[in-house]
Amino acid sequence: MNIIIMGAPGSGKGTQAALICKAHDLPHVSTGDLLRKNIADGTELGKQAKAFMDAGKLVPDELVIALLKNRIAETDCKNGFLLDGFPRNAKQAEVLGGIVDIDVALYLETDLDKLADRAANRRVCLKCGYSTSADKAPDGKCKECGEPLVIRDDDKREVVENRLKVYAANTAPLVEYYKAKGVLKTVDGMQSIEAVNAAIEAALK
Ligand code: AP5
Ligand code: MG
Repeated sequence: MNIIIMGAPGSGKGTQAALICKAHDLPHVSTGDLLRKNIADGTELGKQAKAFMDAGKLVPDELVIALLKNRIAETDCKNGFLLDGFPRNAKQAEVLGGIVDIDVALYLETDLDKLADRAANRRVCLKCGYSTSADKAPDGKCKECGEPLVIRDDDKREVVENRLKVYAANTAPLVEYYKAKGVLKTVDGMQSIEAVNAAIEAALK
């Protein structure tokens, strides 16, 4: 099964993707996590992407599309995958549609005014992509791999505001794009993490 999870910055894509991937044994392909890993590893791609990400802008299509194509060509993706953070504009959606069929596009519908607070409280592991809120990780360590949790460079309030604008202009229209394709499933993302997950599982049945 090829699934996309869509939603605004801080809507819970990464949180829900981790639960879905565990339950359905799918690889979690997050372009944001892959880009952050490249930055942490000091690769050429990471160097090119960092300024865009720190400003809350989209990384240029040619870089992200090449990254995505390489990742989904890996063997663990051959029986399906969950895409988180891709596609993010019409061009990326077209390219993706030319490579694979998407079975379900999950859309986490959220109240944009509440998301900056979620981002401010988020702590992430740059090694494995694990993400949680500060209150749930009092020891500051990743539950999955024990690495220190950090605040993402693009979670500063002014950058989050820019990411929300970029989302509204470029990514939000993809909800209609996947609706027209008949694969959209909308879930209320303002519920508790557990309730959102239950709604997603019901939508995937
Ligand atoms: P990316 O990493 O994809 O970031 P994003 O889309 O802005 O989304 P986030 O990761 O911030 O939020 P999320 O929806 O995953 O929420 P989370 O589960 O963490 O992209 C970052 C950057 O990379 C982009 O700005 C761009 O520069 C670049 N990039 C990536 N892909 C690209 C592409 N395709 N093209 C071009 N550029 C690209 O949850 C957030 C917080 O809320 C957490 O603390 C969590 O614990 C908490 N939370 C989650 N769910 C709930 C809930 N139901 N109730 C209460 N709290 C909750
Ligand atoms: Mg995320």
